[in-house]
Amino acid sequence: MKRISIAIDGPAAAGKSTIAKMVARNLNYTYIDTGAMYRCVAYSAFIHGISYEDEAGVVGLLKDLKIKLLPDGSIRLNGEDVSSAIRANEVSMGASIVSQYAKVRSFLVAQQREMAKGGGVILDGRDIGTVVLPDAELKIYQVASVETRAKRRYKENIEKGIECDYEEMKAEIEARDKQDMNREVSPLKKADDAIELDTSNMSLEEVVAHVMDLVEKKLEE
Ligand code: DC
Repeated sequence: MKRISIAIDGPAAAGKSTIAKMVARNLNYTYIDTGAMYRCVAYSAFIHGISYEDEAGVVGLLKDLKIKLLPDGSIRLNGEDVSSAIRANEVSMGASIVSQYAKVRSFLVAQQREMAKGGGVILDGRDIGTVVLPDAELKIYQVASVETRAKRRYKENIEKGIECDYEEMKAEIEARDKQDMNREVSPLKKADDAIELDTSNMSLEEVVAHVMDLVEKKLEE
């Protein structure tokens, strides 16, 4: 059977990775979490004491960065398992800042294209349908209201035992969206040929079923 490339873009905390992972499992495709790669760059700046705003300093780190996305979903940075560390709020904002730098983007985009070569992949991020894989067979632009996204993220954190404040969560998501949509290089926007999916009033199962329908239609074409 044909193995296509699927792009899922959208704002922060819209549930893209949850959906992408489930769809990848159903199809036996490789899931590529591109946000995790920007998070690794930010995390590296953080541990080296380099300010996220210091573009030259951040770019200088790239040559020593070996990022690996393992099939079990864990993320390795120079051999270290950083799967949890890169999810810290501090690193989320840092990732949004360092992702503005053209050299950071070209470094990661090249790796993402290499990983996606051959199809049978599902990538989620901000620029997959517009820049990384403009020829992806299926492009989804997944959105949800900021309240829904903040509530989901808040609930997730509480369930994991991570203390957090709903209003702070909402403010962070809004700040990140603004930054990701207004940067000069590859800003977050819906690709012309992407299908917009508003998941505000949909359950996880409904979203997955809908995406699976879209995939099946593409495979029949
Ligand atoms: O998807 P995420 O929340 O893990 O992404 C973290 C940040 O990385 C996000 O705020 C913007 C940046 N990012 C990007 O610029 N392009 C991507 N393809 C993925 C993420």
